[in-house]
Amino acid sequence: MRRKIDWLPGLTSLVCLVLVSIILTTRPVQATLLEHNQLDQELTAVLREAGFTGRIEASLESRLGRKINPKLADIGRLLWFDTITGLNDDNTCAGCHSPTAG
Ligand code: HEC
Repeated sequence: MRRKIDWLPGLTSLVCLVLVSIILTTRPVQATLLEHNQLDQELTAVLREAGFTGRIEASLESRLGRKINPKLADIGRLLWFDTITGLNDDNTCAGCHSPTAG
């Protein structure tokens, strides 16, 4: 007498579902990665064209033509992030200006 394997169709369906899910999810991810890579290259080209180096801090003293006074810089930093400079004590300079982007 042959034994009935009643779990086989269920297992086959599950395997098919997993395979279809893998195929459906990996293709868009690859396309998205490609788009991101292209976007990164475009952004890199624009930044290079604008002379952006990402090392602006390193050239600060030469652009100012003097040394940075660390104590004054600290006072400026504290004021920049303090709400006492806001009209209603509810905003800081950094609330609108990014310290890295102006
Ligand atoms: C509510 C938003 C806001 C806050 C808070 C703010 N700013 Fe501004 N700031 C601006 C805007 C918007 C401009 C650009 C105005 C324009 O270009 O016409 C500007 C321009 C400037 C400029 C001129 C920049 C340039 O290149 O000409 C300086 C300097 C400046 N802000 C300093 C400060 C300081 C210091 C503080 C904190 C005491 C501060 N800002 C807080 C919005 C803000």
